[in-house]
Amino acid sequence: MSADIIDGKAFAATIRAKVAAHVARLKVDYEITPGLAVILVGEDPASQVYVRNKGKQTLEVGMNSYEHKLPADTSQEKLLALIADLNADPAVHGILCQLPVPDHIDEATVINAIAPEKDVDGFHISNVGLLATGQKAMVPCTPLGCLMMLRERHGDLSGLEAVVVGRSNIVGKPMAQLLLRDSCTVTIAHSRTRDIQEVCKRADILVAAVGRPEMITGDWVKPGATVIDVGINRIPAPEKGEGKMRLVGDVDFDSASKVAGAITPVPGGVGPMTIAVLLANTLTACCRANDLPEPEGLTA
Ligand code: GUN
Repeated sequence: MSADIIDGKAFAATIRAKVAAHVARLKVDYEITPGLAVILVGEDPASQVYVRNKGKQTLEVGMNSYEHKLPADTSQEKLLALIADLNADPAVHGILCQLPVPDHIDEATVINAIAPEKDVDGFHISNVGLLATGQKAMVPCTPLGCLMMLRERHGDLSGLEAVVVGRSNIVGKPMAQLLLRDSCTVTIAHSRTRDIQEVCKRADILVAAVGRPEMITGDWVKPGATVIDVGINRIPAPEKGEGKMRLVGDVDFDSASKVAGAITPVPGGVGPMTIAVLLANTLTACCRANDLPEPEGLTA
């Protein structure tokens, strides 16, 4: 048996098209254009690439993009002052501060300075609490993208056995909350979990978000399960030449895809979904700010 490949690139394109169509209607019907502000402190090369892609895709769906690039030695006070300005700016519906921030800046202080209703990352402590208590929240992009793919595959998730491997605040914990909200039976497995292979093997839905290259092999997967691989790991690829690297997930694709019913590849699975969902979250924030109906199928 060979698993269906869940094409995250195509799925992300569908989401962007839905967002773009909704944005176009907002402009015509209400003369409102959603706006996303992205802050980058310092010159981390990977962050620069992410921020550039976010800005480009924001414009492509018809939204306004506001980029704020600050030098690495920017004081925390100055960063907080910028966030306060963006919080007060009615043209800005979403604010994202690219992480990591330099060491002299406290990440939690920055995240919690963003107005919760503009926190399109869903990292603010209020949004974490709202999600955990089943209230209307801004939901972190990567887990929300995974949930969308799972709903597309399964329809109703109710009663399914879901195992999330990894307990990060960005993916593992919010993913578990979202699956619980959709009435799955949820287990969070992590580095201290006993018999982790057996735990994973119970899963109808297996979400891997641990950051350990190819840790989950086919013999951890229940036949027919849906496997969502959030990992993006760069490992040496001597077969491609000296010093070359390749991207792999937390799942050993070759063995897992022989057992699973459906699986996301790396690259081309969850990765492309994150920015698409960020745009969806910005649209949602804009609709909420203007007391307009939320976009269908783009929220938790
Ligand atoms: N850095 C890497 N991923 C993310 C993300 O999802 N949000 C933010 N703000 N920074 C990141």
